[in-house]
Amino acid sequence: YYFTTFFSNNYNSLNMPIPTNSKSNQVKITVIGAAGGIGQSLSLLLRTSLQNNNDNQLHLALFDVNMKVLNGVHADLSHVNTNMKLSLHDNLRDSLVDSNLVIIPAGVPRKPGMTRDDLFNINAGIIKGIAQELNTIDSTPFVLLISNPVNSLLPVLQSVLNDVYLGRCFGITELDLVRASTFVNGFMDNSASSSNEMPYVPVIGGHSGDTILPVLSNCSFNNSTFSAYDLISDDVAIKKLVHRIQYGGDEVVQAKDGMGSATLSMAYSAFLVAKKFVQLLTNQVSSIDGIFYIPLTTKDWNSPLVDNAQSVLPLVQNVPFFSIKCTVNSKGISQIDPTLVQNLNNYERESLLPTALNQLQANIDTGLTFASK
Ligand code: NAD
Ligand code: LMR
Repeated sequence: YYFTTFFSNNYNSLNMPIPTNSKSNQVKITVIGAAGGIGQSLSLLLRTSLQNNNDNQLHLALFDVNMKVLNGVHADLSHVNTNMKLSLHDNLRDSLVDSNLVIIPAGVPRKPGMTRDDLFNINAGIIKGIAQELNTIDSTPFVLLISNPVNSLLPVLQSVLNDVYLGRCFGITELDLVRASTFVNGFMDNSASSSNEMPYVPVIGGHSGDTILPVLSNCSFNNSTFSAYDLISDDVAIKKLVHRIQYGGDEVVQAKDGMGSATLSMAYSAFLVAKKFVQLLTNQVSSIDGIFYIPLTTKDWNSPLVDNAQSVLPLVQNVPFFSIKCTVNSKGISQIDPTLVQNLNNYERESLLPTALNQLQANIDTGLTFASK
């Protein structure tokens, strides 16, 4: 009775649907691809590091097609002494039923010499299959897509999914922000700072090579904004930094030498995003902000998704998917913030943005064509 009252009061006042599943106050998080490099580390972070400051019980559900590895991961994780329900599934649909947050690192990673686009044929089939199962469940979870190529696979996911999922699916580009923060920090003298504060460096656009647009002109540190162009006055050094953020994934692919791509830094990045969504789902906050790869339009790929998208679309030549700052409430994306795009400096607006948009539109077309067949 207490739980019912607690949630009805909160949600009735916001006039929003109750996002927890109907059977209990559980918030269920499903990891699809949980036996993989990202999936394992991410599941460990989710199991150990989520703050649960209210009455919701968290439930972590693991699914992977590789049951042999998944069995071991589940047994291993089940010995970690945190108060979270853990379940193992040999059936995708079972793992999804009643889920509130679905995180997808399922699919093949790159080897040296490959681009993310080379992964499309295999991974698009996987994502389509997951989307079809998502359409059969009632809970309409938030969906966080990690599998590559994100630029093309989010259009596949969003196209195959029913309309109720519009505004609830997010391509995860957080690793680009994490890398950008690390690399910019290398140019800063933070030795006097006693905190572990790191610079915040927005990165927008897409998630591969030239589609990645680091907004070095609009960084922040300790609550004040700064331009990395003031920090690094040398043009060549700026171009190198932009290139390193855009092609950081290649460094890891080459270092792993055939054994895959970034997993640890990716798991950490996905955890940062998942943590925000769990705060939203457990009603610790009523909305969250972040930079995510999202549709800017409804499913005609033409009309603005939300009012604010109207001001962004012309700035990005009407490219229908873009990684941009947005606000998400329990219903989904409620606002898109155009300011980062509006305030790009000349180099970012005239050189980086058009190159990113050209390639992004081609990547999106690949996804939409596949989904329409
Ligand atoms: P991995 O091979 O270690 O793990 C992938 C897992 O997915 C495997 O356990 C595999 O069994 C599972 N899988 C395959 N098909 C499946 C299906 N139909 N249903 C459920 N599980 C399935 O690979 P990884 O290193 O964890 O990378 C996973 C994906 O994430 C790759 O596509 C990679 O390119 C991508 N990635 C994205 C980012 C990003 O920034 N968005 C960063 C790093 C990696
Ligand atoms: C990354 O940026 O590390 C990932 O997208 C994996 C890759 O293929 O580079």
